[in-house]
Amino acid sequence: MKGIVLAGGKGTRLHPLTQAVSKQLMPIYDKPMIYYPISTLIAAGIHEILIISTPQDLPLFERLLGDGSAWGCQFQYVEQAQPNGLAEALILGEAFIDQSPVALILGDNLFYGQNFTPFVQAMQRTKGAAIFAYRVNNPSRYGVVTFDDQNRGTSLEEKPEQPRSSFAVPGIYFYDATAVEKAKKLAPSSRGEIEITDLNKNYLNEGSLKVNPLSQGATWLDTGTIDSLLEASQFVQALQSRQGVLVGSPELAAFQSKAIDKNQLIDLAEQSGASAYGQALKRFLHQ
Ligand code: DAU
Repeated sequence: MKGIVLAGGKGTRLHPLTQAVSKQLMPIYDKPMIYYPISTLIAAGIHEILIISTPQDLPLFERLLGDGSAWGCQFQYVEQAQPNGLAEALILGEAFIDQSPVALILGDNLFYGQNFTPFVQAMQRTKGAAIFAYRVNNPSRYGVVTFDDQNRGTSLEEKPEQPRSSFAVPGIYFYDATAVEKAKKLAPSSRGEIEITDLNKNYLNEGSLKVNPLSQGATWLDTGTIDSLLEASQFVQALQSRQGVLVGSPELAAFQSKAIDKNQLIDLAEQSGASAYGQALKRFLHQ
């Protein structure tokens, strides 16, 4: 399975922080935001990854992430000229996807404690799409889903004023190879975007949208507002300092998913030098 990280957009809700620097390069505690979704994909065994961002920001992501080989991965890059909507990622990624099943993750979404490997494996065998559901207090800010006792999606709405459930749809989506053609047929919404919710509705209408509640104990954070950005840093800081884990590390995800071996991980820890992040990698190696 291939993976796409969508890391464009205007970042207007975080101005002036994002006046000169992309939102997905902002720090979440000790590492850039995009490390978290990248490590989520790598941990799930997805090692061929396309990064999509704006023409101005894409070179910065290339400088940060390179071609992926240091982490045993292959990274490619594509520009999104305008923020035309999340579903455009599949159209821009058509050549990269090349008829494979694909996972799309938003560059500002942070997942902790959920193993996505079973969904990657299921998508190699089954047709359709898999999305997730996470109970929140403010569903109107998100895509909102209802589903039956077989986990089949029964309704989906983007930012409804009167939500039919308290289940928000987090920004990770697994699709079969038909997603590209479906995305091409979508019409822009009233806000002028090709909506991911409309793509998912296509699968829902076909009866092939699987809706998986995130595991108990799993956490999903989006970092769309300045307060949620700070909360995400505090969450990572608390986990790392209290439990000694390292959250959102592509190096560790690469090691754990066997994209690199222990000697490569030792080299990467050395390269991170005396930073807190480098120290955390070294602690992991000594555990
Ligand atoms: O975070 C999950 C939510 O993400 C879902 O529940 C919603 O269904 C989905 O529409 C989306 O809602 P947001 O309001 O968070 O979408 P936003 O426009 O903020 O875009 C999400 C990220 O994707 C953001 O970091 C910017 C980036 N983006 C956005 C657009 C529209 C792009 O890279 N390109 C785009 O064209």
